Amino acid sequence: MKLSRKISLLSAVACGMMVAHGAPHAHAAHGSTDPADEKARQVLAHMSLEDKMSLLFSVDGGGFNGSVAPPGGLGSAAYLRAPAGSGLPDLQISDAGLGVRNPAHIRKDGAAVSLPSGLSTASSWDMDMARQAGAMIGREAWQQGFNVLLGGGADLTRDPRGGRNFEYAGEDPLQTGRMVGSTIAGVQSQHVISTLKHYAMNDLETSRMTMSADIDPVAMRESDLLGFEIAIETGHPGSVMCAYNRVNDLYACESPYLLTKTLKQDWHYPGFVMSDWGATHSSARAALAGLDQESAGDHADARPYFRTLLAADVKAGRVPQSRIDDMAQRIVRSLFAQGLVDHPPVRAPLDVVTDTLVAQRDEEEGAVLLRNEGNILPLAPTARIAVIGGHADVGVISGGGSSQVDPIGGEVVKGPGKKDWPGDPVYFPSSPLKAMRAEAPAAHITYDPGTNIAAAVRAARAADVAVVYATQFTFEGMDAPNMHLDGNADALIAAVAAANPRTVVVMETGDPVLMPWNGSVAGVLEAWFPGSGGGTAIARLLFGKVAPSGHLTMTFPQAESQLAHPDIAGVNANNVFEMQFHTDQELVYDEGSDVGYRWFDRNHLKPLYPFGYGLTYTTFATDGLVAGYHHKQLTVTFNVRNTGTRPGVDVPQVYVGLPDGGARRLAGWQRVKLAPGESRQVSVQVDPRLLAHFDGKHDRWDIPSGRFRVWLGHSAMDDSQQVSVHLSGRTLAP
Ligand code: BGC
Repeated sequence: MKLSRKISLLSAVACGMMVAHGAPHAHAAHGSTDPADEKARQVLAHMSLEDKMSLLFSVDGGGFNGSVAPPGGLGSAAYLRAPAGSGLPDLQISDAGLGVRNPAHIRKDGAAVSLPSGLSTASSWDMDMARQAGAMIGREAWQQGFNVLLGGGADLTRDPRGGRNFEYAGEDPLQTGRMVGSTIAGVQSQHVISTLKHYAMNDLETSRMTMSADIDPVAMRESDLLGFEIAIETGHPGSVMCAYNRVNDLYACESPYLLTKTLKQDWHYPGFVMSDWGATHSSARAALAGLDQESAGDHADARPYFRTLLAADVKAGRVPQSRIDDMAQRIVRSLFAQGLVDHPPVRAPLDVVTDTLVAQRDEEEGAVLLRNEGNILPLAPTARIAVIGGHADVGVISGGGSSQVDPIGGEVVKGPGKKDWPGDPVYFPSSPLKAMRAEAPAAHITYDPGTNIAAAVRAARAADVAVVYATQFTFEGMDAPNMHLDGNADALIAAVAAANPRTVVVMETGDPVLMPWNGSVAGVLEAWFPGSGGGTAIARLLFGKVAPSGHLTMTFPQAESQLAHPDIAGVNANNVFEMQFHTDQELVYDEGSDVGYRWFDRNHLKPLYPFGYGLTYTTFATDGLVAGYHHKQLTVTFNVRNTGTRPGVDVPQVYVGLPDGGARRLAGWQRVKLAPGESRQVSVQVDPRLLAHFDGKHDRWDIPSGRFRVWLGHSAMDDSQQVSVHLSGRTLAP
């Protein structure tokens, strides 16, 4: 990674040390009248110190290759036996954010329905959809006996090659916070704790175990941390998982600045912090920094820190007992707050049909139509169509790692049998080809696997339209070594498009990719990792049964040279394990809070497809843009009209520019469903933090005085409608 400047981190480190050196801890229950706090206090009042300490340490639940589920555990990422007689439930802790995981296929009945990638859910810009998606996986977790789910992920996309971008929501803090927070709220509506992760700055996989993400704390508060802050306000997660990496030199799970100062004091977070698996490195140091529970500590960490070592720390006075009380209080409080005590899981068969429909609708809303020359889509129901590549005859690809769900119906593509993490890509048995045939029985649809380009070209020539499926497998533990589609996809698409310009590309990717053939194809649908209902969703979108309505939450660059960090040090496709430890030891995010589209805006760069972009099968017009400031609230009002001939969903977005310059910021959006000719006046209320700078000296948000620019657009690069509004400066109440 080319890094020009090492920023001054003195303030961050000073801030980081504050709590460890004696500043007051953030006690969850002090003065709280919350009933969950009160119930937790009552339970803990009768508990011995030893029993309280047993709440601070979960054991491996059988989640590691070769490990077995402990007695009482169901076989998952972790298990915690509740103290006998406490009336509290055991914690059955399972991955992850897209569905219930069955690590190493340990449970016989462990297959589950998988949502499309988090990126796809986010691209719907539909908080209600995200909530329903969360509720579906929360319900399946509960029905399988789990009460803690290890999702959702809210790390920002600082690099479009990030190996886990597909689990997250994208590059904007407001969008990420609202969408991930909504998913969390959905999960928790099912009496299952949802875990916001990986806090914080785990934006890359390369060297994730050792690297320090170095960033000015003010910029961090305005970007990555703002995403977490909004996710917490929106979803009230019962737990937060601290990340593997270091942040400004300190391990995230040992950072008083992150865990105590920001999360618990400034944001008043009442729940508990659990470590990522292998992210605890100390006992007193971590406990004093704000870590509340060590995860799978018997297996994942170098030592079981929060067992005998922490007990010895308490005995020696290195950790006050009040801190142990607070840790236990936070955990038990979340059990009551999320209904784990009153609504224990009842094992039941999954409602696969209903749940798959949720996953399908999520994908239908999240897929993004990037290109549609000459309205090639929707496809004619009687066309001769050559479907090519991507294993579209049997299924859709998924992302690898701890978010991987065992498909109901089994894996449909036999890979080469890769033994190393994360194994072969898993395809869910939701075949786009079969779904296309079912959707358009009068069409003539052939299939060619795309492995032999000459054969694929022949198939494309013989058809009215060619639909090429192309994949990019990404996974936890490694960043994408480049931004290309997998295998021969680029060459295949170029050759097919040369043979038949009426070519549509369906991309199933974990990240944005480069599209060297973009100008020569007629259509492009970005389907992300489409999930358990993916094949049906894609077919319905292609034939117009449902109109695409997704909008990008990540910038698609024209080239890697446009990125804030054009290369990632040490990306080595052959050795995932090494990569997590042994490359850059510091990554200076000197772009600060100008992540993604803000970087492009600040540097006047033109991307291939901008953040916020997405087409559909009708057209929309917006007008009447007014920005009004009343009672300290900026409200942006405008009209949206469906000017086309089909019903559709528009996602007009509001961006703001501060008087003292800087890149524009997404300030809000609306999702508007309109029939042809229908129009509606809508308004967007702007979160005041988007109008403010974070003042790191006083830990508060300040809105500057002056003229703010307000853009209404269909992407972050859309300058067509703009007004300005004068605001007098003020400090936001903490
Ligand atoms: C991942 C977490 C996951 C945990 C448990 C870690 O490697 O980073 O996201 O929840 O494992 O499987």
